[in-house]
Amino acid sequence: MSPLLEVRGLVKQFGSLRALDGVDLDVAAGSLTALIGPNGAGKSTAFACIAGAAKPTAGSVRFRGTEIAGMAYHRVAALGIGRTYQIVQTFADMTALEATTTGALLRRPHLRDAVAYAEEILAFVGLADKRYRLGRALTIADKKRLEVARALATEPQLLLLDEVMAGLTPAECGAAVELLRRILARGVTVLMVEHVMEVLMPIAQHVVVIAAGKTIFSGTAAGAVRDVDVIDAYLGSPLEHGAIATGTP
Ligand SMILES: Nc1ncnc2c1ncn2[C@@H]1O[C@H](COP(=O)(O)OP(=O)(O)OP(=O)(O)O)[C@@H](O)[C@H]1O
Ligand SMILES: [Mg+2]
Repeated sequence: MSPLLEVRGLVKQFGSLRALDGVDLDVAAGSLTALIGPNGAGKSTAFACIAGAAKPTAGSVRFRGTEIAGMAYHRVAALGIGRTYQIVQTFADMTALEATTTGALLRRPHLRDAVAYAEEILAFVGLADKRYRLGRALTIADKKRLEVARALATEPQLLLLDEVMAGLTPAECGAAVELLRRILARGVTVLMVEHVMEVLMPIAQHVVVIAAGKTIFSGTAAGAVRDVDVIDAYLGSPLEHGAIATGTP
């Protein structure tokens, strides 16, 4: 079966900077795939190119067999890709319910239906009792939950999560992992960028590593932490990144 998302030879040039220089990436339907790599490797740029927020300079992005490279953001969303942003959208002057409703309106043009669905999604992510709070009044962890809620409200088949656990306490990370498992159980496929290997190891079926705009590894999480190129480019000493937990001597 062909993957839900198939990225080949993705290139993105910003002036003289080649932010992406040949990224290959497959995401199998129903899986949780992690995209990792050093700061500035091009992870967020790859997300932008997949989600239609940036136009790739070259390469192919196929989603459910359709070529979407260069397609406008709203068309990509309508096809079934939702995303969160690394810099959380604060929705400062909107309530959590209003912000989530903006997502729900994609497939529910009647406001009443969109609001009802947004309520359901806010309950799903654990923000039901904060639905009338303004974005600005939410904690970082709740802002990230709200980002996920707004993306989920568009009913994506593929959800792109860009560092939704950055800046969270260990307890909040645990809650975020629990939410991720429930998102997968809903049948939503997840591609996530995350730096905390300890968080990813137990949940990611597949790991893709990019460095300097190129894919340097594709395989299991356990394979990634043992891979010489990945250690060299990103992980440094394996002991610092949870390799002990895999039982590696
Ligand atoms: N809009 C832009 N214009 C010019 N350069 C950009 C733009 N967006 C990203 N870049 C550059 O492209 C490179 C890749 O950036 P990107 O944000 O994709 O990295 P990243 O892997 O997400 O890093 P991090 O882990 O820090 O989030 C960086 O050198 C960055 O400065
Ligand atoms: Mg980034």
